[in-house]
Amino acid sequence: MTIRQMQEEILRRKREEDIVILAHSYQRREVAEIADFTGDSYALAVLATKTRAKTVIMCGVRFMAETVKILSPEKKVYLANAAAGCPMAEQLEPARLSELKAEYPDAAVAAYINTTSELKTLCDVCVTSSSAERILKALPQREILFIPDINLGRYVAHKLPEKTFRFVRGGCPTHVRASREDVDRVRRAHPSALFLAHPECRFEVTETADYVGSTSGIIEYALKSDAKEFIVGTENAIVEHLQYECPEKRFYPLSKDFLCRDMKLTTLTDVLNCCRGEGEEIALAESTRLAAKKCIDRMIELGG
Ligand code: 13P
Ligand code: SF4
Repeated sequence: MTIRQMQEEILRRKREEDIVILAHSYQRREVAEIADFTGDSYALAVLATKTRAKTVIMCGVRFMAETVKILSPEKKVYLANAAAGCPMAEQLEPARLSELKAEYPDAAVAAYINTTSELKTLCDVCVTSSSAERILKALPQREILFIPDINLGRYVAHKLPEKTFRFVRGGCPTHVRASREDVDRVRRAHPSALFLAHPECRFEVTETADYVGSTSGIIEYALKSDAKEFIVGTENAIVEHLQYECPEKRFYPLSKDFLCRDMKLTTLTDVLNCCRGEGEEIALAESTRLAAKKCIDRMIELGG
């Protein structure tokens, strides 16, 4: 089968069998093309509550598929490639988080959505890269225990000096690869380009950016901007998608190491298998689902 034939077969099954395909913005181009919706973690979480389809195939990583199942237990939810997990989501053990909660009893516990469902059961609120500042600002508590991404945490803490942040050392193994030296080098090579960065990058990187935002935020900014050249400080799928969307503009990767292996696992064959009912269906214990749902509901309530 060619790529095009496989895409056509997926699109046919999707139409006939009441399936919706969601794809995170880091997915391969050929996968993004057959999705009903592509977007950042926040958009995908909210879309999951809106779709009426009986089956959802998530092309992304495990916590994203779990979020859909938490919000829509009546749906059949497939993670297109069952091995795709976000390494950051598992960096903190629930037992360690319980110890930290005892250390900071007055702190609101805020979890980046890139966490397991078990960790979410212990948290007060979830945030995503596009909603973190808005949500954490709205919390009544002054003190915030933020897990697990210290880089996103530091970036938001800088924006909210009125809050006291407590961090645990964790972060995205892909985004930490870029340094200030990479920014200086790529800026020297492309002096007219605007630099767009994801807040999972180190603070020494985001503090030099012309724009900091989620994957959807970066895409939207580049599409709307009058500028013609951009340095993209996030996973290199965004460079590729933007180049397709805007062939008249130029996009340069901040680092050739910006590849998330987990996001690249999903293939069209995986999606087709799920359409045939042969993928891994997400299953969560009802007690875990309900406890984790509280902090996702709070995110949607405060995030708008
Ligand atoms: P976004 O919410 O910006 O899509 O980020 C998710 C993610 O995993 C980035 O590495
Ligand atoms: Fe997780 Fe980083 Fe991959 Fe995003 S890019 S899914 S945070 S490992």
